Amino acid sequence: MVSVSMNVNGKPASGEVEGRTLLSAFLRENLKLTGTHIGCDTSQCGACVVHVDGKAVKACTMLAAEADGSEVKTIEGMANADGSLGVVQQAFQDHHGLQCGFCTPGMVMSAAALLSENPNPSEAEIREYLEGNLCRCTGYHNIVKAIMAAAGQDVSKIAAE
Ligand code: FES
Ligand code: FES
Repeated sequence: MVSVSMNVNGKPASGEVEGRTLLSAFLRENLKLTGTHIGCDTSQCGACVVHVDGKAVKACTMLAAEADGSEVKTIEGMANADGSLGVVQQAFQDHHGLQCGFCTPGMVMSAAALLSENPNPSEAEIREYLEGNLCRCTGYHNIVKAIMAAAGQDVSKIAAE
């Protein structure tokens, strides 16, 4: 067993885990932060994306022990301080960027990471950035639209799908 401690959504979090424990499992099982979804565990789907030291990371590709000492942000940390939806979350709601919602935490975390790297991405740049995030439901159109809206772009002329 190894001791891990990290800051998660601005609060200290620690635990004893097996060395092979994935960050995704640590977040969900030890910390009960079940907003981080596990769709594949093989680095395909992106449902488990979180931020580690400000970068988007698939939490199933990282050991909890590797995140020791890091700043981690999960979907639970994306709301505003008053509990209202954060900008990216609100844009997903406003533009119907989700259906079943399974992919949504990872999509929101990836979108937020993209916007912090590139605050005004083109549609093509958004689609390219989301290559590691799979959605079975939406056809991606409204997800891309939501991210453009979150970036402050005028999406009024883009058709809904
Ligand atoms: S659960 Fe991590 S990429 Fe699918
Ligand atoms: S909304 Fe269902 S998988 Fe994306």
